[in-house]
Amino acid sequence: MSETRNEIPPAQTIIEILNHIIFRHPSLAHMAATVAFNAGDPELATVAQNYLRAHRAWRHEKSGFFHQHVVPYATYAPWLRDAPFMGVYDKVKAHTLVDIYRCHELWTLAKQAARVDGDILEVGVWRGGTGALLAAAAKASGKRVYLADTFQGVVKAGEKDTNYVGGEHADTSIDVVRGLLAELGLDNVQLLQGIFPEETQGSVAGGIALLHCDVDVYASARDVVEWAFPRLAVGSVLVFDDYGFHGCEGVTTFCEELRGDDRFLFVHNLNGHAVFVRIA
Ligand SMILES: C[S@@+](CC[C@H](N)C(=O)[O-])C[C@H]1O[C@@H](n2cnc3c(N)ncnc32)[C@H](O)[C@@H]1O
Repeated sequence: MSETRNEIPPAQTIIEILNHIIFRHPSLAHMAATVAFNAGDPELATVAQNYLRAHRAWRHEKSGFFHQHVVPYATYAPWLRDAPFMGVYDKVKAHTLVDIYRCHELWTLAKQAARVDGDILEVGVWRGGTGALLAAAAKASGKRVYLADTFQGVVKAGEKDTNYVGGEHADTSIDVVRGLLAELGLDNVQLLQGIFPEETQGSVAGGIALLHCDVDVYASARDVVEWAFPRLAVGSVLVFDDYGFHGCEGVTTFCEELRGDDRFLFVHNLNGHAVFVRIA
């Protein structure tokens, strides 16, 4: 038997392997670009970004949706000068799956929601990161922030969902979220434990100015929006996480359907948020 342990594969093989990994796992490519950025090497970062931009598009085998690495050219980063945001983000970042771009967008939307009638609702809380961020941003407005989750993982996965089967993200508890809220001194929150809307809708009184829907699957997103419809004032905003994420095709499908509703303006934020603003 020959000894192969110390043999280094030819460079072409390594590139092929890397290509394979990046193609199958787009988030790793983004990670590579981030590492290059953080290494403080602008040339390397540009090479990494251009690599991502040039990488071939692919079609999701089940949904048929086209995907391609989205690497914006703009570099303006207002969150870095937003000290109140950065202070809260530092405390919540270990409690969230949501990146700083989407977190800052939620922060700014929660602040602007002060100008719209109604409270703030997040469905899909997990360990409380984005929920606490919304509550901190909304504190001065006097709005109530409802945070709804089963705290036992994803429910209602179905045939429109390409990856989720149910039960994901069960690695949390309502006490984990309570702890984070206490650490941040947030008392404007009402936690709702159970499937929303079926099991906990009765606790939400009044209208909704901002809905953050981070539920991962088609049927949950649909049911949350059906519940919310009669409670949304003109100017209210719906933000869907998971829009366009590889593996979250159910939510992307739902948002594509909602785009046909002319009571909303639609913004495809390239960070993975679909944003709908009620205009009629
Ligand atoms: C990706 S996690 C939320 C991430 C979180 N926003 C963060 O800051 O990282 C999705 C969550 O949605 C919850 N969920 C999905 N559908 C739900 C429903 N219909 N009612 C309540 N919770 C739901 C799951 O339990 C899970 O914790």
